Amino acid sequence: MTESATGHEAGSGYFSEENSAAVVIDRIAAATDPRLKQIMASAIQHLHAFVKDVEPTQEEWGKAIAFLTETGQICNEWRQEYILLSDILGVSMLVDAINNRKPSGATETTVLGPFHVADAPRYQHGANICLDGKGEPLLVQGRVTDTEGKPISGALLDVWQANDEGFYDVQQKGVQPEMNLRGIFETDADGRYWFRSVRPKFYPIPDDGPVGKLLRQMGRHPYRPAHIHFIVGAAGFEPITTHIFTPDCPYLHSDAVFGVKEDLLADFHGVDDADRAAELGFGNPYEAVTCDFVLVTPEQKLRG
Ligand SMILES: [Fe+2]
Repeated sequence: MTESATGHEAGSGYFSEENSAAVVIDRIAAATDPRLKQIMASAIQHLHAFVKDVEPTQEEWGKAIAFLTETGQICNEWRQEYILLSDILGVSMLVDAINNRKPSGATETTVLGPFHVADAPRYQHGANICLDGKGEPLLVQGRVTDTEGKPISGALLDVWQANDEGFYDVQQKGVQPEMNLRGIFETDADGRYWFRSVRPKFYPIPDDGPVGKLLRQMGRHPYRPAHIHFIVGAAGFEPITTHIFTPDCPYLHSDAVFGVKEDLLADFHGVDDADRAAELGFGNPYEAVTCDFVLVTPEQKLRG
Protein backbone atom coordinates (compact mmCIF):
# COMPACT_ATOMS: atom_id res chain seq x y z
CA MET A 1 0.00 0.00 0.00
CA THR A 2 1.39 3.41 -0.92
CA GLU A 3 1.68 6.12 1.68
CA SER A 4 -0.93 8.07 -0.23
CA ALA A 5 -3.38 5.17 -0.01
CA THR A 6 -2.95 4.98 3.76
CA GLY A 7 -3.63 8.68 4.06
CA HIS A 8 -0.39 9.19 5.99
CA GLU A 9 0.94 11.98 3.88
CA ALA A 10 -0.14 15.43 4.93
CA GLY A 11 -1.33 16.41 1.46
CA SER A 12 -4.13 13.83 1.45
CA GLY A 13 -5.91 15.72 4.22
CA TYR A 14 -6.49 12.50 6.12
CA PHE A 15 -5.55 12.57 9.77
CA SER A 16 -3.35 10.13 11.64
CA GLU A 17 -1.54 10.18 14.96
CA GLU A 18 1.82 10.31 13.20
CA ASN A 19 1.12 13.18 10.80
CA SER A 20 -1.41 15.11 12.91
CA ALA A 21 0.42 18.46 13.06
CA ALA A 22 1.38 18.39 9.36
CA VAL A 23 -2.22 17.74 8.30
CA VAL A 24 -3.56 20.65 10.34
CA ILE A 25 -0.77 23.01 9.27
CA ASP A 26 -1.40 22.08 5.61
CA ARG A 27 -5.00 23.20 6.06
CA ILE A 28 -3.93 26.82 6.79
CA ALA A 29 -1.97 27.18 3.55
CA ALA A 30 -4.45 29.75 2.26
CA ALA A 31 -4.14 32.08 5.24
CA THR A 32 -3.44 35.55 3.86
CA ASP A 33 -1.77 37.12 6.91
CA PRO A 34 1.78 35.69 6.92
CA ARG A 35 2.42 36.46 10.60
CA LEU A 36 -0.84 34.80 11.67
CA LYS A 37 0.07 31.82 9.50
CA GLN A 38 3.52 31.58 11.10
CA ILE A 39 2.12 31.90 14.63
CA MET A 40 -0.64 29.35 14.10
CA ALA A 41 1.70 26.85 12.43
CA SER A 42 4.06 27.06 15.42
CA ALA A 43 1.19 26.86 17.90
CA ILE A 44 -0.20 23.77 16.17
CA GLN A 45 3.24 22.15 16.00
CA HIS A 46 3.95 22.71 19.70
CA LEU A 47 0.46 21.84 20.87
CA HIS A 48 0.48 18.54 19.02
CA ALA A 49 3.96 17.78 20.37
CA PHE A 50 2.71 18.56 23.88
CA VAL A 51 -0.29 16.26 23.52
CA LYS A 52 1.95 13.49 22.14
CA ASP A 53 4.31 13.94 25.07
CA VAL A 54 1.58 13.89 27.72
CA GLU A 55 -0.83 11.44 26.04
CA PRO A 56 -3.82 12.72 28.01
CA THR A 57 -6.82 10.49 28.67
CA GLN A 58 -10.15 11.75 27.36
CA GLU A 59 -11.04 12.64 30.95
CA GLU A 60 -7.83 14.64 31.41
CA TRP A 61 -8.41 16.53 28.17
CA GLY A 62 -11.97 17.25 29.32
CA LYS A 63 -10.53 18.67 32.55
CA ALA A 64 -8.15 20.90 30.57
CA ILE A 65 -11.06 22.26 28.51
CA ALA A 66 -13.13 22.79 31.67
CA PHE A 67 -10.19 24.67 33.25
CA LEU A 68 -9.93 27.03 30.28
CA THR A 69 -13.71 27.46 30.27
CA GLU A 70 -13.70 28.43 33.97
CA THR A 71 -10.74 30.74 33.40
CA GLY A 72 -12.75 32.62 30.80
CA GLN A 73 -15.99 32.61 32.76
CA ILE A 74 -14.47 34.27 35.85
CA CYS A 75 -13.06 37.16 33.78
CA ASN A 76 -14.81 40.51 33.87
CA GLU A 77 -13.80 44.16 33.57
CA TRP A 78 -11.85 43.93 36.85
CA ARG A 79 -10.87 40.27 37.01
CA GLN A 80 -8.36 39.14 34.37
CA GLU A 81 -7.81 35.46 35.02
CA TYR A 82 -6.01 34.87 31.71
CA ILE A 83 -3.39 37.49 32.63
CA LEU A 84 -2.91 35.63 35.92
CA LEU A 85 -2.54 32.34 34.06
CA SER A 86 0.06 33.85 31.74
CA ASP A 87 1.80 35.41 34.77
CA ILE A 88 2.04 32.29 36.93
CA LEU A 89 3.41 30.23 34.05
CA GLY A 90 6.21 32.77 33.50
CA VAL A 91 4.95 33.60 30.01
CA SER A 92 4.21 37.26 30.76
CA MET A 93 7.80 37.74 31.95
CA LEU A 94 9.16 35.91 28.90
CA VAL A 95 7.18 38.11 26.49
CA ASP A 96 8.36 41.14 28.47
CA ALA A 97 12.01 40.00 28.27
CA ILE A 98 11.82 39.38 24.51
CA ASN A 99 10.33 42.82 23.91
CA ASN A 100 12.59 44.79 26.23
CA ARG A 101 16.17 43.94 25.36
CA LYS A 102 18.03 47.04 26.43
CA PRO A 103 21.57 48.25 27.01
CA SER A 104 22.88 47.94 30.56
CA GLY A 105 22.06 50.93 32.70
CA ALA A 106 18.50 51.19 31.38
CA THR A 107 15.80 50.51 33.97
CA GLU A 108 14.64 46.91 33.85
CA THR A 109 11.02 46.11 33.04
CA THR A 110 8.62 43.64 34.61
CA VAL A 111 5.01 42.47 34.38
CA LEU A 112 2.11 44.89 34.01
CA GLY A 113 -0.17 42.67 36.10
CA PRO A 114 -3.96 42.74 36.00
CA PHE A 115 -4.63 45.85 38.14
CA HIS A 116 -3.56 48.81 36.01
CA VAL A 117 -6.34 51.32 35.37
CA ALA A 118 -6.25 53.86 32.57
CA ASP A 119 -6.94 57.49 33.41
CA ALA A 120 -5.67 57.62 36.99
CA PRO A 121 -5.82 61.14 38.43
CA ARG A 122 -3.06 63.62 37.50
CA TYR A 123 -1.45 65.08 40.61
CA GLN A 124 1.04 67.81 41.49
CA HIS A 125 4.31 66.78 43.12
CA GLY A 126 3.94 65.88 46.76
CA ALA A 127 0.34 64.66 46.52
CA ASN A 128 -0.61 61.77 48.78
CA ILE A 129 -2.07 58.97 46.67
CA CYS A 130 -3.16 57.03 49.78
CA LEU A 131 -6.82 57.97 50.11
CA ASP A 132 -7.85 55.47 52.80
CA GLY A 133 -5.37 56.67 55.45
CA LYS A 134 -4.16 53.12 56.16
CA GLY A 135 -0.55 52.01 56.29
CA GLU A 136 2.93 53.25 57.11
CA PRO A 137 3.58 56.65 55.42
CA LEU A 138 6.18 56.61 52.67
CA LEU A 139 7.89 59.37 50.69
CA VAL A 140 8.65 58.29 47.10
CA GLN A 141 11.07 60.42 45.12
CA GLY A 142 13.52 60.22 42.25
CA ARG A 143 14.53 61.32 38.80
CA VAL A 144 13.92 60.20 35.26
CA THR A 145 16.98 60.45 33.03
CA ASP A 146 18.39 59.18 29.75
CA THR A 147 21.31 56.74 29.67
CA GLU A 148 23.76 59.67 29.82
CA GLY A 149 22.22 60.83 33.09
CA LYS A 150 20.56 63.85 31.51
CA PRO A 151 17.22 64.71 33.13
CA ILE A 152 14.04 64.08 31.17
CA SER A 153 11.52 66.78 31.97
CA GLY A 154 7.86 66.23 31.19
CA ALA A 155 8.13 62.45 31.68
CA LEU A 156 4.91 60.92 32.99
CA LEU A 157 4.94 58.37 35.81
CA ASP A 158 1.78 56.31 36.17
CA VAL A 159 1.91 54.76 39.66
CA TRP A 160 -0.28 52.17 41.38
CA GLN A 161 -0.04 49.85 44.35
CA ALA A 162 -2.08 47.69 46.73
CA ASN A 163 -3.33 49.13 50.02
CA ASP A 164 -2.10 48.22 53.50
CA GLU A 165 -4.32 45.13 53.48
CA GLY A 166 -2.89 43.86 50.20
CA PHE A 167 -5.78 44.75 47.89
CA TYR A 168 -6.00 47.09 44.91
CA ASP A 169 -8.92 49.52 44.81
CA VAL A 170 -10.46 47.66 41.87
CA GLN A 171 -10.60 44.49 44.00
CA GLN A 172 -12.55 46.28 46.70
CA LYS A 173 -15.03 48.47 44.90
CA GLY A 174 -17.21 50.22 47.48
CA VAL A 175 -14.72 49.40 50.25
CA GLN A 176 -11.70 51.46 49.18
CA PRO A 177 -12.05 54.98 47.78
CA GLU A 178 -12.01 54.96 43.98
CA MET A 179 -8.53 55.52 42.55
CA ASN A 180 -6.96 54.78 45.94
CA LEU A 181 -3.16 54.49 45.63
CA ARG A 182 -3.05 55.52 41.98
CA GLY A 183 -1.80 58.66 40.33
CA ILE A 184 0.07 60.20 37.43
CA PHE A 185 2.99 62.60 38.02
CA GLU A 186 5.02 64.67 35.57
CA THR A 187 8.73 65.28 36.08
CA ASP A 188 9.98 68.84 36.51
CA ALA A 189 12.80 70.58 34.61
CA ASP A 190 15.39 68.49 36.52
CA GLY A 191 13.60 65.25 35.74
CA ARG A 192 12.46 65.01 39.36
CA TYR A 193 9.21 63.74 40.84
CA TRP A 194 7.98 63.07 44.35
CA PHE A 195 4.80 61.96 46.04
CA ARG A 196 3.49 60.52 49.28
CA SER A 197 2.10 57.03 49.68
CA VAL A 198 2.37 54.09 52.08
CA ARG A 199 4.90 51.28 52.35
CA PRO A 200 3.69 48.45 50.08
CA LYS A 201 2.89 45.03 51.55
CA PHE A 202 3.12 41.61 49.98
CA TYR A 203 -0.19 40.19 48.80
CA PRO A 204 -1.65 37.07 47.18
CA ILE A 205 -2.74 37.24 43.56
CA PRO A 206 -6.48 36.52 43.40
CA ASP A 207 -6.47 32.81 44.24
CA ASP A 208 -10.17 32.02 44.57
CA GLY A 209 -10.50 31.02 40.91
CA PRO A 210 -9.13 28.31 38.62
CA VAL A 211 -5.60 29.79 38.56
CA GLY A 212 -5.40 29.79 42.39
CA LYS A 213 -6.58 26.18 42.43
CA LEU A 214 -3.93 25.24 39.87
CA LEU A 215 -1.23 26.98 41.94
CA ARG A 216 -2.21 24.91 44.99
CA GLN A 217 -2.22 21.71 42.93
CA MET A 218 1.30 22.57 41.72
CA GLY A 219 2.47 23.05 45.32
CA ARG A 220 2.93 26.81 44.92
CA HIS A 221 1.87 29.80 47.01
CA PRO A 222 0.04 32.79 45.48
CA TYR A 223 2.13 35.62 47.01
CA ARG A 224 3.81 38.53 45.29
CA PRO A 225 6.55 40.38 47.16
CA ALA A 226 5.76 43.97 48.20
CA HIS A 227 6.05 46.40 45.29
CA ILE A 228 4.91 49.62 43.68
CA HIS A 229 4.01 49.63 39.98
CA PHE A 230 5.22 52.27 37.53
CA ILE A 231 4.74 52.99 33.85
CA VAL A 232 7.22 55.70 32.87
CA GLY A 233 7.11 57.37 29.49
CA ALA A 234 8.41 60.49 27.77
CA ALA A 235 8.38 61.88 24.24
CA GLY A 236 11.25 60.41 22.22
CA PHE A 237 11.85 57.50 24.63
CA GLU A 238 10.64 53.91 24.93
CA PRO A 239 8.04 53.67 27.72
CA ILE A 240 8.77 51.17 30.50
CA THR A 241 6.43 49.10 32.65
CA THR A 242 8.12 48.14 35.87
CA HIS A 243 7.96 47.82 39.69
CA ILE A 244 10.14 48.70 42.61
CA PHE A 245 10.36 46.09 45.37
CA THR A 246 11.11 46.44 49.06
CA PRO A 247 14.47 44.69 49.59
CA ASP A 248 13.44 42.76 52.71
CA CYS A 249 10.28 40.94 51.61
CA PRO A 250 10.08 37.21 52.41
CA TYR A 251 8.63 36.46 48.96
CA LEU A 252 11.38 38.10 46.84
CA HIS A 253 12.74 34.72 45.74
CA SER A 254 9.42 33.02 45.08
CA ASP A 255 7.25 35.68 43.41
CA ALA A 256 4.15 33.88 42.10
CA VAL A 257 4.54 35.68 38.75
CA PHE A 258 8.39 35.68 38.46
CA GLY A 259 8.48 39.49 38.29
CA VAL A 260 11.47 40.21 40.54
CA LYS A 261 14.79 41.42 39.11
CA GLU A 262 17.68 42.30 41.37
CA ASP A 263 18.00 45.78 39.86
CA LEU A 264 14.43 46.54 40.88
CA LEU A 265 15.07 46.15 44.63
CA ALA A 266 14.81 49.76 45.78
CA ASP A 267 16.46 51.74 48.52
CA PHE A 268 13.75 51.96 51.19
CA HIS A 269 15.23 53.74 54.20
CA GLY A 270 14.26 55.51 57.41
CA VAL A 271 14.59 59.30 57.65
CA ASP A 272 14.96 61.12 60.98
CA ASP A 273 14.11 64.75 60.16
CA ALA A 274 11.43 66.32 62.33
CA ASP A 275 11.07 69.47 60.18
CA ARG A 276 10.68 67.57 56.93
CA ALA A 277 8.32 65.08 58.60
CA ALA A 278 6.15 67.99 59.75
CA GLU A 279 6.11 69.43 56.21
CA LEU A 280 5.02 66.05 54.87
CA GLY A 281 2.42 65.55 57.58
CA PHE A 282 4.25 62.36 58.63
CA GLY A 283 5.39 61.28 62.08
CA ASN A 284 9.14 61.36 62.68
CA PRO A 285 11.08 59.26 61.81
CA TYR A 286 9.47 58.23 58.54
CA GLU A 287 10.20 55.93 55.61
CA ALA A 288 11.41 57.09 52.18
CA VAL A 289 12.46 55.46 48.95
CA THR A 290 14.46 56.97 46.12
CA CYS A 291 13.89 55.42 42.73
CA ASP A 292 15.44 56.75 39.56
CA PHE A 293 14.37 55.59 36.13
CA VAL A 294 16.61 55.47 33.06
CA LEU A 295 14.83 55.47 29.70
CA VAL A 296 16.25 54.53 26.31
CA THR A 297 15.44 55.90 22.89
CA PRO A 298 13.90 53.60 20.27
CA GLU A 299 17.33 53.52 18.55
CA GLN A 300 19.00 52.24 21.75
CA LYS A 301 16.60 49.34 22.15
CA LEU A 302 18.36 46.12 21.23
CA ARG A 303 16.86 44.02 18.50
CA GLY A 304 17.03 40.28 17.98
FE1 LIG B 1 0.94 44.48 41.99
